[in-house]
Amino acid sequence: MDVRRAFDFTGRNALITGAARGIGFACAKALSDSGARVALADMNGEAVAASARELSSTAVGLAADIGDAQSVAAMVEGAKRELGEIDIFVNCAAITHDNLFLESGPEDWERILRVDLFGAMLCLKAVLPDMVRRGYGRVVYLASDSALIGQARLSYYAAAKGGVVALIKSVAQEVGKDGVTLNVVSPGATNTPLRAQRETALRAQLGEERFLARERKILARYPVGRLGQPDDIAGAVAFLSAEQSSWVTGQVLSVNGGFLMA
Ligand SMILES: NC(=O)c1ccc[n+]([C@@H]2O[C@H](COP(=O)([O-])OP(=O)(O)OC[C@H]3O[C@@H](n4cnc5c(N)ncnc54)[C@H](O)[C@@H]3O)[C@@H](O)[C@H]2O)c1
Repeated sequence: MDVRRAFDFTGRNALITGAARGIGFACAKALSDSGARVALADMNGEAVAASARELSSTAVGLAADIGDAQSVAAMVEGAKRELGEIDIFVNCAAITHDNLFLESGPEDWERILRVDLFGAMLCLKAVLPDMVRRGYGRVVYLASDSALIGQARLSYYAAAKGGVVALIKSVAQEVGKDGVTLNVVSPGATNTPLRAQRETALRAQLGEERFLARERKILARYPVGRLGQPDDIAGAVAFLSAEQSSWVTGQVLSVNGGFLMA
C-alpha cells in the first residue's frame, strides 16, 4: 500500500515506540513518508537514533523503556519538546519469550507483563491527557492474534496482549467524545527481528526436522500464502492514525493474511 497517496499527515506529530526496527520502524516510516513529523522511541537508544537518522532529517530518536514510569514521562516530554503536541501515538514496543506455562515462573510473568501490559498502560497515561485536552488524538496499539485465540508457549505474552485489547476498548469508551480514537492492530506472523529471534530459539529447541514441519504447518494456515512484512502492518496503522478514521474506535483490526477470520 502506498500510504503517501492514501493519507496526508502534514502538520501532524507522531510518537512511535519500539521504532528502532521491525513493525515500529515501518510505522514510523509510513507516517513520515506521508508528511508526519515523527519521534521514534526504543529501549535500544543507539539503534533508534540510527533509525531516526535513516528516516529523515526531522525525525527524532529517543531512548526509552516503556515499562518504567519515569522513562515514559521523559519520552513524552522529549517528543513534545522536539515536535510539539503529539497527535498520533503508536505503541509497538513489546518483548516475548517462548516457554510452556508449566515451566514459566512468576519472574517470567513479571518481566513480560511489565513491558507488554503495564508499559502499555503507562504510555497511555502519559499521552492521553493532552489529547483529551486538545480534543484530538489517534492511538494505535499493536496486539497479537494470540490475544484472541491464545498461543501455546506464549501464555504470558497472549495474556498481556489480551489485556491490551481490553485496555484500549475500555479507554476508547471513555474518551470517544473528546475526539480521541483508540484502536488495536493485531498482526499475524510477520517477518521482523522479533520473529527471527523466536524462530532461531525454536529451531534450537525443536531440532531441524520438527522445526521445518512446524514452519510448513504455520504457512498452510495463511490463506494469502505468505507471512506478513512490516509494511503490511504499517498500512493498517496509517489508516487508523488518519483523520479520516474518526468513526473507528475500540476496534481490533487483524492484519494476518487470513490466518484468523474473527
Ligand atoms: N512480528 C510478529 O510476528 C508479530 C506478531 C504479532 C504481534 N506483533 C507485535 O507487533 C509489535 C512489534 O513487533 P516486532 O516484531 O516489530 O518486534 P521487534 O522485536 O522486531 O521490535 C520491537 C522493538 O521494541 C523495542 N522494545 C522492547 N522492549 C522495549 C521497552 N521496554 N521499551 C521500549 N522499547 C522496547 C525493541 O528494542 C525493538 O526495537 C509488538 O507489539 C509485537 O508484540 C508482532
